Amino acid sequence: MPESPFGDETGIARMVGDWAAERVVRPTDPKSSARTPEELHRDAGVTITHDGIGAEAALRVFDTVLVPATRAQDDPMNLAYIPSAPTRAAVAFDLATSAANVFGGIWEAGAGAIFAENEALAWIRELLGWPSTAGGTFVSGGTSGNLSALHAARATARTRRGGRPEQGWAIVCAASAHSSIRSAGSVLDVDVIPVPQDDRGRLTGAALRPVLEAHPEICAVVASAGTTNTGTVDELDTIADVCQDLGVWMHVDGAYGGAALAAPSARDLFRGIERADSFIVDPHKWLFAPYDSCALLYRDPELARAAHSQHASYLDGIDREATNPSDLAIHLSRRARGLPLWFSLATHGTARYSESVERSLTTAREVAAYIRGSEHLRLLLDPMLSVVIFDRPGWSEEQYTAWSKHMAITGQVLCLPTRFQDEMVLRLAFVNPLTESAQVVEVLETLR
Ligand SMILES: Cc1ncc(COP(=O)(O)O)c(C=O)c1O
Repeated sequence: MPESPFGDETGIARMVGDWAAERVVRPTDPKSSARTPEELHRDAGVTITHDGIGAEAALRVFDTVLVPATRAQDDPMNLAYIPSAPTRAAVAFDLATSAANVFGGIWEAGAGAIFAENEALAWIRELLGWPSTAGGTFVSGGTSGNLSALHAARATARTRRGGRPEQGWAIVCAASAHSSIRSAGSVLDVDVIPVPQDDRGRLTGAALRPVLEAHPEICAVVASAGTTNTGTVDELDTIADVCQDLGVWMHVDGAYGGAALAAPSARDLFRGIERADSFIVDPHKWLFAPYDSCALLYRDPELARAAHSQHASYLDGIDREATNPSDLAIHLSRRARGLPLWFSLATHGTARYSESVERSLTTAREVAAYIRGSEHLRLLLDPMLSVVIFDRPGWSEEQYTAWSKHMAITGQVLCLPTRFQDEMVLRLAFVNPLTESAQVVEVLETLR
């Protein structure tokens, strides 16, 4: 074998492996946060050079300058956006997944890995109550999962309805649907028609029906199973009734909240999901896997295959009878990014997953109960899942912003303002089973 132009990298592999192994178990630093490019340039120095700076120097820069300038997503007091709380098993296995360097696009190249990913998808499929013929793949995140599902929905409508309507296609959702739905609409060049929400903020079948009847160009309904801002689950049962009656594809965006399918105390909210056509959930949000990972499932994967399969002469050899993840979404090359979830599920068992999701639901309910009973705060919605939204009557926007910044800089809590009914309010998103309601209550006391 000729000598590699990169030399013997064995020592480098061990050094990086040791760093990663130590990092996986190191407690997080809640004060880590972004810095300016100028500061980073000053402290990191020049790293890309003609002859290279060597692995030791590069790793030192990563450890001492670059990682401290990233946010600890899994700190138990990071309650902003939708954080992430991967199990150590899942994070460690991400390393193993990279080391195996599997091409996860086609069965012939990645069969073992794809088989394991499909085992994890089968667990989600069972939670959905879908038939065993359902299936899917893992993509990078909810945004690409939603886009891939909606592309399949539109392609199916085009086939079934004999072409494109004169005015072009449209999709419908509530205004509370995630911004990635509007982004998908823009990429697909389909109109996004908003449907009014009920007094609990939900999209319902009753509001949906007249809109679908008035717009035959609608090719998909997007329901949220856990909106990002308030954790609201749309009325999936009545939405499924209307979609079934009118023959329209029902897509459920459970990027955040879909994890609660595993929680018996929340399962009732999802009634109707068993009739959806496509579904996404991000394991990097509330299913304890690291970035990046979105499980995308179709009731009938054949429809996805018809929409997504890429054809080219160099791809003619692909066995199309096999389960090829590349045929099911907007991607071709892909890492087997479902493996960390599979490993963590296989290691810990699904019961621990259910318990861990339940724990965040309990934390959210306890914090909501404290806010409801407090004199200085006002709970704006009873949490359906694990997002708690509240305000501090009498405070200006400047006061909210200053409090939130102070809490972040001092590492006490990451709690960012959002908007609810056009007013600035505060929002907490619980996905980490290590978050303790008593500690959250302690910081909310500082809002007095
Ligand atoms: C409901 C919902 N859908 C979609 C997304 C987009 O997911 P991603 O950031 O993984 O692309 C998010 C992100 O927070 C979300 O909460």
